[in-house]
Amino acid sequence: MKFNRSSILLALFAVGLLAACGAKAPGSAEAALIKEIKRETIGGNDWKNLLPDTPDTQKTGAEHFQHHCQICHGLDGHNTGVPFADLMSPPVADLGDKSVQAYTDGQLKWIIQNGIRFTGMPGWNGILDDNEQWAIIRYIRHLPAKGTLGAPPVYKELEEEHQHGPAAEPHEHKHSHQGPEHKH
Ligand code: HEC
Repeated sequence: MKFNRSSILLALFAVGLLAACGAKAPGSAEAALIKEIKRETIGGNDWKNLLPDTPDTQKTGAEHFQHHCQICHGLDGHNTGVPFADLMSPPVADLGDKSVQAYTDGQLKWIIQNGIRFTGMPGWNGILDDNEQWAIIRYIRHLPAKGTLGAPPVYKELEEEHQHGPAAEPHEHKHSHQGPEHKH
């Protein structure tokens, strides 16, 4: 799988900003308000997922998910290895959670295409086509157990740089390898 390093860093930067804003906001009141707005706005209730629910579709969905969504939701959809998942406000949802699985496929489609306002969850229309989004939903219905796929490679690399890299101020941090993929 190929990652574009600069887009990943950009996403991390955006997430950092969001986490920073969230830290100043009154957590529970804000979360309650977002939940309320969500209940009012999420559509798609009766949209149908016409893709067959087969291992093939799930695999296609997994590939799209592990390309576009893993940076926040982890490879397994349970935020495994995503260091800021709990720091965002609201936190990155664990997609295996009952509250997420309770959505209809159509509602999940609506969430994925539009994103969720006032949260870090972006909308994907224009980036992923309808069938790619529906395939991702097939994957979300069959997520692997939490932790079984490990952390996204980019975070493993950052962690290793922290542990083994020279002790330096963050702004002086030298990045020694250029790609998130390691050759073992
Ligand atoms: C920049 C980080 C980020 C990326 C990338 C991201 N998400 Fe999310 N996602 C979030 C956050 C934060 C939430 C929690 C929002 C909330 O609680 O309302 C969330 C929530 C969700 C939810 C559950 C919404 C709910 O009401 O509980 C679904 C489903 C979801 N994301 C799917 C996806 C899919 C599929 C992708 C990739 C196409 C994706 N996300 C990419 C941050 C992200």
